[in-house]
Amino acid sequence: MNSTVSNDNNPSATLSFSDGSPSVTMPIYKGTIGPDVIDIRKLYGQSGKFTYDPGFLSTAACNSSITYIDGDIGKLLYRGYPIEQIAVNCDFLETCYLILHGELPNKSQRDDFVHRVTSHTMVHEQMSTFFRGFRRDSHPMAVLVAVVGAMSAFYADSSDVNDPQQRAISAIRLIAKLPTLVAMTYKYSIGQPFVYPSNDLSYSANFMRMMFSNPCEEYKSNDVLVRALDRILILHADHEQNASTSTVRLAGSSGANPFACIAAGVACLWGPAHGGANEAALNMLIDIQNNGGVEKIGEFIADVKNKNSGTKLMGFGHRVYKNYDPRAKLMRETCHEVLNELGLHDSPLFKLAMALEKIALEDEYFVKRQLYPNVDFYSGIVQSALGIPVPLFTAIFAMARTVGWIAQWNEMISDPEQKIGRPRQLFVGATERDVKPIAQR
Ligand code: ACO
Repeated sequence: MNSTVSNDNNPSATLSFSDGSPSVTMPIYKGTIGPDVIDIRKLYGQSGKFTYDPGFLSTAACNSSITYIDGDIGKLLYRGYPIEQIAVNCDFLETCYLILHGELPNKSQRDDFVHRVTSHTMVHEQMSTFFRGFRRDSHPMAVLVAVVGAMSAFYADSSDVNDPQQRAISAIRLIAKLPTLVAMTYKYSIGQPFVYPSNDLSYSANFMRMMFSNPCEEYKSNDVLVRALDRILILHADHEQNASTSTVRLAGSSGANPFACIAAGVACLWGPAHGGANEAALNMLIDIQNNGGVEKIGEFIADVKNKNSGTKLMGFGHRVYKNYDPRAKLMRETCHEVLNELGLHDSPLFKLAMALEKIALEDEYFVKRQLYPNVDFYSGIVQSALGIPVPLFTAIFAMARTVGWIAQWNEMISDPEQKIGRPRQLFVGATERDVKPIAQR
């Protein structure tokens, strides 16, 4: 089989087959930026053949105008704005507005949006009894998957996916309530009472207070630390069609309600190859630290390069970035700020991370495979310095990504070309056969 691409004004690709089947011509579309795509939707109807692309290495599963990544040069744009500019000029809620609505808010739009989010921060009181069914030592993501899914049992009045008004309310509810649910998950795990949200604080300051205040001691917020958390949230807010976002889209393509779809996204994010990597990266650093520290980096790198060891350098590598992850640069900067503020700049873990990064960036194994640090390499160190316990890291990621998930979900529902997601397969199992009576099997 081979294909040719035409050069005319209506570009197309023609696929010819070595088995003599008639060739098929398919249109090629241009995005505003990024690679062109070949529209293969009619391929099966015209040729009786599917395409094969496990892991979606060459497949655009939708069109989207939210986030753009150029992995070769390490660029990330939210609605056209570079992440480097957003990270220094906007706070998380402005970023949410941008991702949801396509434009940065002006002052009155911003105030109105902040008001709408803060007036939805509290969760239904009955949700606190729901928490009591969990073991206190449950993994926070196990609890989060369940409580986010349970939101559909509490907020059925914003579950009609065909009503744009209800979709907008569910978006606000999810963005507003995720921090409350994540903080409740933490408080439950340590046996402390839940702390109610405080609506005169910023999104991130409120979250830190719900995490670290208790009835005997009010949390004293620190601007550097609050800004660091806000930056973590901005950097994780959306990342186009990654595994969890695609999960949300696939779940939503059946018409499932938004809370159920976001719960599906939380479940997918949990995996160590995705959102679980920040937890895995910090655990890896702690492990190396406990087993000889900087001296042992050489041994560790050799282990990573040995394919039989199953060891990966967590926080390195990315399906799309074949260059330094732009979020990792910003997170590295935040890491310095936070450790300076806390007088932890000589922290052995940070020094170890810097040494490991330097060695890996020079090592032929990583250079050849274009493996660079991703955002999770540094976000774990920052979160740890903020006092966030390691098992909660992925839940913080989920809190940040909720806006991306809901914006992508909303974009999909509003797309007139939207269809239920239904991949096909290359079947390699047994062909039809007869069931034998049990005595003959
Ligand atoms: N350590 C060592 N080797 C690696 C790593 C790593 N972290 N990542 C990739 N490789 C190797 C692979 O073994 C493979 O080698 P080979 O060509 O000799 O077989 C090659 O690099 C290509 O890697 P793939 O696994 O094919 O790349 P893929 O795009 O499928 O995987 C992934 C990307 C899952 C992120 C991978 O790099 C990884 O597991 N990294 C560690 C986990 C991590 O940090 N995940 C966070 C992603 S960012 C995020 O979710 C916010």
